[in-house]
Amino acid sequence: MTATKPAPKPVVVVTRKLPDLVETRLMELFESHLNAGDRPMSGDEIIAACSDADVLVPTVTDKITRDVINALPDRLKLIANFGVGVNHIDLAACGARGITVTNTPGVLTEDTADLTLALLLAAPRRLMEGDRLVRSGEWKGWSPTFMIGDRIAGKRLGIIGMGRIGQAVARRARGFNMSVHYHNRKRVHVDMESELEATWWQDLDQMLAHMDYISVNCPLNTETHHLLSEQRLRLLQPHAFVINTARGEIIDEAALARLLGEGAIAGAALDVYEREPEIEPALLKLDNVVLAPHLGSATREGRIAMGEKVLINIRAFADNHAPPDRVIHGNAG
Ligand code: DGY
Repeated sequence: MTATKPAPKPVVVVTRKLPDLVETRLMELFESHLNAGDRPMSGDEIIAACSDADVLVPTVTDKITRDVINALPDRLKLIANFGVGVNHIDLAACGARGITVTNTPGVLTEDTADLTLALLLAAPRRLMEGDRLVRSGEWKGWSPTFMIGDRIAGKRLGIIGMGRIGQAVARRARGFNMSVHYHNRKRVHVDMESELEATWWQDLDQMLAHMDYISVNCPLNTETHHLLSEQRLRLLQPHAFVINTARGEIIDEAALARLLGEGAIAGAALDVYEREPEIEPALLKLDNVVLAPHLGSATREGRIAMGEKVLINIRAFADNHAPPDRVIHGNAG
């Protein structure tokens, strides 16, 4: 009787350092090539690292362009993204090459919504400005007219993008007694609308003109690039605040900085930027902006759950099953 050899483990290339627990499982289950130094890799470095790989695990910091995809070996048939947004991957090129792409939806919804609310509170209540003042030693004590901000209770929040994260933001905003409005390509189910007591605006321009707060929660794609253009930002009322925890490129960042500087918009709180980790220099000079370093999903629990999704997607693919979190399903033929 001849012993059957176990099938070789898939070769997996991971572009950034992942949580230890996730890396341990990646090493146990697959022939994994990790990036212990966590230095972001260039397109050429990714191509070289993947020369004999079956699976690539990139993150939002990698630019998986058409050129990169076309230079990947034929055997590489799965890109298992660590993250929910896939705007950094040329999906059309993956489709043409028969490469399946998966992401990590659901597990970072609550964390991203929490951060959105943290920013939604921090900007109008001038929390960062206050923190800077206290640290400077210049604070002279309480006064009835000192560092007055804006209330969020009773105000109108306009959510752009009513997917999982938008809905989680809406639930929290209701808890703060805000009235919830939203713009989404498709109106959400009437049951969801009534649970969230949310008003749908088909016309984004109309919604912008009537809101006190705007939260950007839609994915970045060709339709949403610079969705908040200068022209649209100018529709906002001067007391309005803009919060963005989705992707920087959805807002024209230079125009936003200009309008904030002019006082045409009251404030902004941003977790994402057009050219991360570069920040529009004009934004850095403004006191009415809170700037976070892309922390939406950055909790211990969230990052481990994202890793588990990556593991499940690779495992299913390696076992010839459809991975659960397919963004596109390549025709592996
Ligand atoms: C996401 O999952 O899209 C986060 O922004 C990190 O990539």
